[in-house]
Amino acid sequence: MSRLVIISNRLPVTIQKEEGDLIYHPSAGGLATGLNSLDGSWEKIWIGWPGQEIKEAWEREAVRRDLSKDGLFPVFLSQEEITLYYEGFSNKAIWPHFHYFTQYTSYRDRYWEAYKSVNRTFADEVIPLIRKDDLVWVHDYQLMLLPAMIREAFPNLSIGFFLHIPFPSYEVFRILPWREEILEGMLGANQIGFHTFGYMRHFLSAVYRICGYEHHFGKLTVGNRLVNADVFPMGIDYDKYAHPEIEPQEGNGSLKIRKLAQQQKLVISIDRLDYSKGIPQRLKAFARFLDNYPQYQGKVTLVMIVVPSRANVTQYKELKGEIDNLVGKINGKYASFDWAPIHYFYRSLDFSELTTLYQESDIALITPLRDGMNLVAKEYVASKEKSKRGVLILSEMAGASNELMEALIVNPQDRQDITKALLQALEMSEEEQRQRLERMQERIRKNDVRHWAATFIKEQKKLMESQKEKIAQRLSDEAKKKLAEDYRSARSRLLILDYDGTLMPFHKDPQAVVPDKQLLAILTRLRSHEGTKLVVSSGRDRGTLQKWLGPLQLDMAAEHGVWVKRNGEWSNNTGLSVSWKESIRQVLENMVERTPGSFIEEKDFSIAWHYRAIDKDLGEKRVREFRDVLLYLTANDDLQVLEGNKVVEIKNAGVNKGKAALNWVGEQEWEFIMAIGDDHTDEDTFKALPEDAHTIKVGLDKSAARYNMLSVEEVRSFLETL
Ligand code: UDP
Ligand code: G6P
Repeated sequence: MSRLVIISNRLPVTIQKEEGDLIYHPSAGGLATGLNSLDGSWEKIWIGWPGQEIKEAWEREAVRRDLSKDGLFPVFLSQEEITLYYEGFSNKAIWPHFHYFTQYTSYRDRYWEAYKSVNRTFADEVIPLIRKDDLVWVHDYQLMLLPAMIREAFPNLSIGFFLHIPFPSYEVFRILPWREEILEGMLGANQIGFHTFGYMRHFLSAVYRICGYEHHFGKLTVGNRLVNADVFPMGIDYDKYAHPEIEPQEGNGSLKIRKLAQQQKLVISIDRLDYSKGIPQRLKAFARFLDNYPQYQGKVTLVMIVVPSRANVTQYKELKGEIDNLVGKINGKYASFDWAPIHYFYRSLDFSELTTLYQESDIALITPLRDGMNLVAKEYVASKEKSKRGVLILSEMAGASNELMEALIVNPQDRQDITKALLQALEMSEEEQRQRLERMQERIRKNDVRHWAATFIKEQKKLMESQKEKIAQRLSDEAKKKLAEDYRSARSRLLILDYDGTLMPFHKDPQAVVPDKQLLAILTRLRSHEGTKLVVSSGRDRGTLQKWLGPLQLDMAAEHGVWVKRNGEWSNNTGLSVSWKESIRQVLENMVERTPGSFIEEKDFSIAWHYRAIDKDLGEKRVREFRDVLLYLTANDDLQVLEGNKVVEIKNAGVNKGKAALNWVGEQEWEFIMAIGDDHTDEDTFKALPEDAHTIKVGLDKSAARYNMLSVEEVRSFLETL
């Protein structure tokens, strides 16, 4: 059985020092509670920070020993690291920024340096523990650089990453000075998971705009690896909340909660103390409700649990003051001698209190301003398994609202909306409560936390297998050597090489890819080999190719084979008409007018609209808009509308690189034929060549070619060995 290696900033237990003793408490927060409820079907180890500075060597040893019994491995942090990495970069930069609180984002370089160095410390701790068959699963925003750091040490390891908080829109993300390093860090993983499609979409958009990697249905090629970005909404341990094994005991809060529930309609609110949770807004909405519907004064009580969190971070401290104040004001204003509108607890609950509160309450009021998922909402619904009574009011800004559609969904900033939802909840019939709960329960019962982890792992395994297949097609060093030997021992050889993306890297400006010295040297050498016919086959126009490569005196195909240069002479596919160009040009000019930054390239027998310098989505939108007109205009002529990599080209049908290749194939009997290309116009070449030809695709996309290479550099170094 391969092992699951979980790495997160916080371990599922947090150490507290009480009178010199080390006390282990379960950690609060969705990540720890969720992952900790994975059952024993995984052999797993968990690496993370125990939540407390432990200085002395003997004490560290004791902690190590205690934790190792449960498969936990501590990463010890100094007080300075806690201040700069955890409270600093993680919680004063990333947390606010990713939750759209950019006014709280701190851009201090010292925090960033500490973040890098603690991510490195995690890597140093983890790397010696890893076995090559492990599945390593890195969690959350505190460790976004870690996947790439582990990748350096284990190029083929299966690494997953899950972000438990929102990924913000590109326009917000791009503000971070360290945006590129963060993305490259995450992209060290094979699979990157998010709670919602929205977060994934934002991530892919940032990756494309900042790092330049394009995706196809969430899959990207990064260097020699496939990376899959996908949506895996995290679930809860359903049965634990649906059928809790607890007995209310005298002395703990459970009995008191029950008693209160018998006298009052109970509205509950449970969060860590965090500005993302919208607690002041919720309190104000509750006060508005009491104002608007005074008949409920004395009858409804809000039980508000605020779990202490990140207490050393300024905004959290200030928020505590604000909440204390508001609760005081509201209670002061509305309380009577036998009723207080808000019961406020600033502490964490034990499991029995928590589930009793869930079970006994009539309404859960969960209104974060932003929340990656919000597991409390799901736990509340599960706790109603037996009674089928209770109403969930949930913010549309919580990831959970995507799955809990039967909740009363509210805008957390809209007090009126929350007020109305409270009234609706209080007046909702039992039958409607049951129906709504049942639908939600069915969904979250099925998609519980085990299902979440199992799906992530299953998809990760599938990905690793498909990657293996691709890698199998990749030319190994051995195979390259053999190919070079075959080339050398053959007496007649035909080499057909594409230009852009094969010999030269893709560039936004098509004029910027003038052949460099290294390339000219490679082509000159190949051209001089006795018995070799060297052909460059490109979609570019004849003039450019002639200017750039003419002096080398090699054969060429231009405009995807409209023009062919053989033995020093250019000739074209005679009989091609160009009378259609005028009407098409008008359409393309219209596209340029509507889309600044795009441009027209006119060749002798074709015309193309390029959008490589502008936003890809905008370019594709224009293509969709104009596709019908173009198809209409080309329908009666023998024309083809070819959609390529950020280009649409209209050209005579029946002309392609494959047909052009046949010119040379038919010239004589070749002992060795090889073609290399990167885009789909090269597929015509691959298909047209005899079966025993050596066809090589640059990149990992699907192809008719027999082998893969991964980059222009790889192609060049291979050609240098011939
Ligand atoms: N929780 C807890 N102790 C408490 C109150 C809540 O451990 O006193 C748990 C709660 O059951 C839930 C988690 O903390 O599993 C909070 O997760 P959520 O996703 O709602 O919010 P997060 O804290 O991750 O932002
Ligand atoms: C959220 C984050 C977790 C974090 C938890 C508690 O759930 O996604 O990564 O562990 O809050 O916060 P803390 O700072 O106490 O670890």
